Amino acid sequence: MSEALFLAGFMGTGKSVVGRRLARLLERPFVDTDKVVAKALGGRSPRAVIQERGMEAFRDQEKRVITQIRGNEVVAMGGGSDLNGETRDFLKGKSVARLRAPLSVIEARLGKGEGRPLWKERKKLYLEREGEGALGIPVQTEGLTQGAVAGRVLRQLYPDKASQKIGDGVLMGWGQMSRPLPTTTGKWVGLFDQRLGALVSEAPEGGVSHLPLVGKDRAKNLRTVERILEGLSVSGVGKDGALWVLGGGGITDVAGLAAALYLRGIAIHLVPTTVLGMADAALGGKFGVNRGKGKNLLGVVRLPDSVVIDPTLLAGLPLREIRNGAAEIIKMSWVWRQAALAMGEEEWEGMGKGRLIPIERGIQWAAKGKLKIVKRDLLEKRGLRILLNFGHTVGHALESSTVPRIRHGEGVGLGMLTNTRWAERLGVAPKGTAAFLEKELVRVGLPTSLDRELNPEAFKEAILKDKKWDKGELQVLLPTQIPNGDGGEWDTIMVYRTKRPPIDEWLAQIA
Ligand SMILES: NC(=O)c1ccc[n+]([C@@H]2O[C@H](COP(=O)([O-])OP(=O)(O)OC[C@H]3O[C@@H](n4cnc5c(N)ncnc54)[C@H](O)[C@@H]3O)[C@@H](O)[C@H]2O)c1
Repeated sequence: MSEALFLAGFMGTGKSVVGRRLARLLERPFVDTDKVVAKALGGRSPRAVIQERGMEAFRDQEKRVITQIRGNEVVAMGGGSDLNGETRDFLKGKSVARLRAPLSVIEARLGKGEGRPLWKERKKLYLEREGEGALGIPVQTEGLTQGAVAGRVLRQLYPDKASQKIGDGVLMGWGQMSRPLPTTTGKWVGLFDQRLGALVSEAPEGGVSHLPLVGKDRAKNLRTVERILEGLSVSGVGKDGALWVLGGGGITDVAGLAAALYLRGIAIHLVPTTVLGMADAALGGKFGVNRGKGKNLLGVVRLPDSVVIDPTLLAGLPLREIRNGAAEIIKMSWVWRQAALAMGEEEWEGMGKGRLIPIERGIQWAAKGKLKIVKRDLLEKRGLRILLNFGHTVGHALESSTVPRIRHGEGVGLGMLTNTRWAERLGVAPKGTAAFLEKELVRVGLPTSLDRELNPEAFKEAILKDKKWDKGELQVLLPTQIPNGDGGEWDTIMVYRTKRPPIDEWLAQIA
């Protein structure tokens, strides 16, 4: 994993774009051999160099460039470069992925093959180069986004990397998404975020059918539950059956409710695909749907039978979604001091830039913290689990009152900030606490003020309908200190009860 990663494959399989993305994800230098060779031979482009200096000179220089790689670069190799004997010898035993696609797909991608010097000979070359004996672990790219291909490359090249159990029934590691379902003897149905439908070929073996779903909070409703129940019923899933779910929090939430209702409960196995899902939503056993404008008003608490966290799935997740999930990791670092202390400044920044290793580390800490809390206080009866709601009252209200609708994590970030400022004004938190949190939000690229329209009436209504009202008082989670230094595990956040939450003050700060 610390040595170079090579991408081989036919023209038009995406070696350069996927390579660049992998280099960014892994924080490594990127080498595009076509460009390096053209530059070394003094040409404007590979095509110009081949025309001016000939194919042989190009291939010779290409071999030199590849066989001199000694570091941990991500290297996109020119098509056909791996046919050279010396290059093949050099690549033996190294991490080489071969991006593949049917020729018809490549033709559709490249149109007239502009800028590709060998386009006219493509059929002959395809047969010569992509047959048996082609170098590298094959990675099919058809139907996948570039980011999803990058994730698949990591799964294929480094299966089992960092594989470890991080809690009861919770496993984390690269390439783990395809693990067989534990404890399920009967028929099972797979649910997919429809955006990730092309990953159906990587689902564990044995599913009787697969159902695509929309991964959006809007789709978290009883109609979707009904669709899933119908899918289970049509597929003949019995009491010994299961649901296997691949998707973000929007989908795992609704799927969990359906699994709890079907035949009064069947097993559910979750493979979260967003940072938010991996760090938070898939772990605590809270499943549910929205009702009208009310968030998560219908649901159950019931732990999933297994959760597999496979960070390679994040390779195609947009940066905004990564930051969205980072908000819950920041929250956990305030709730559980150990998580705050585990992450360094550079790691937080790397997370905000979408680098895989820091994100993975943040997820691991947040997940461990959440699992600890859930183990001690699953049903929210011991005053511990409620702490996980830090920032959520305002966050949920923002979700139901903004146009376009704010992402869950962005709302939670603003909610934490608003409540921390209030905590300072009340004297519950020392001066500087809110400034510290604001810096953290900025560091991972989260907003610290609202950048869209807000309906004040809808915001107020959502606060007044919040689930944390108890005996006429709203329970608001307030920080009492910055989460570093000495002290107990969970005492950075307190439950503050108020009959009259300062909704206008919160609004004024946000809008
Ligand atoms: N149950 C809980 O304890 C809990 C905790 C926190 C949040 N939630 C819920 O989670 C939901 C939000 O979940 P989320 O942020 O994971 O988002 P999501 O499921 O809404 O997905 C966000 C977007 O990312 C896309 N996507 C998902 N995985 C992808 C991948 N690997 N590559 C590319 N695109 C991908 C989806 O299609 C969607 O467009 C909210 O409904 C919230 O209420 C639940």
